Amino acid sequence: MRFDVLTLFPDLFQGYLTQSLLKLAIQRGLVDIRLWNLRDWAKGKHKSVDDRPFGGGPGMVIMPEPVYDCVDAVQQDGEPGRLIMMTPGGERLTQSVVQELSKQKRLLLLCGRYEGFDERIRLGLKPREISIGDFICNGGEVPAMVVIDTVVRYVPGVLGDEESLTEESHNEPGRLEYPQYTRPRAFRGMEVPEVLLSGNHEAIAAWRRQQSEQRSQPSPAPRAGE
Ligand SMILES: C[S@@+](CC[C@H](N)C(=O)[O-])C[C@H]1O[C@@H](n2cnc3c(N)ncnc32)[C@H](O)[C@@H]1O
Repeated sequence: MRFDVLTLFPDLFQGYLTQSLLKLAIQRGLVDIRLWNLRDWAKGKHKSVDDRPFGGGPGMVIMPEPVYDCVDAVQQDGEPGRLIMMTPGGERLTQSVVQELSKQKRLLLLCGRYEGFDERIRLGLKPREISIGDFICNGGEVPAMVVIDTVVRYVPGVLGDEESLTEESHNEPGRLEYPQYTRPRAFRGMEVPEVLLSGNHEAIAAWRRQQSEQRSQPSPAPRAGE
């Protein structure tokens, strides 16, 4: 799967893309991530990509021209992909949206900064607008990383163990995973539940189902040990 990130701060991705799961997925050719600097499509002596808002008000707004030019150029680099605009006013990113996005071969992730985008970018380019939650980030880069991070888990081969996808929280809407324990058996007075040490697979599965149901209640009961 291919991701093209359109951003004013491509260097922000360096650490993220060169570690752990993403690094391996890229090395193994499962995921292709390309970074494009919107400023490369800016015109004029100062290479400006933003300007003051008409009507007044604080901050700067990203101008339409460099964004249109960048999107056109990136779309021509291979088979066109689906354009996604990172915006706090967009559709909320949920696990089912993640699953939908993972069915695309290529996503272009457009990251805003400052006060956001000139409205004509939304009107003319008709992106799918995605928000990672009802709060404001400084830019679209972290939200774009969240999209990449969640979507790549569905790319075959990235996780290695696809079972962990179906067992995980939110795989079914509202369903949370059961509690997990590892060594040591006792830690600061807290013991691993006996059933997990029993070797009885049916009993373990039943305990996990029950714990998962309990955790998934709308107002969760206090968790074991609390
Ligand atoms: C400081 S924000 C601009 C917020 C804008 N003035 C508003 O009130 O909606 C700059 C950029 O960060 C990104 N951004 C901020 N919060 C986001 C969120 N919750 N989800 C997705 N993108 C977000 C968007 O790309 C946005 O254009």
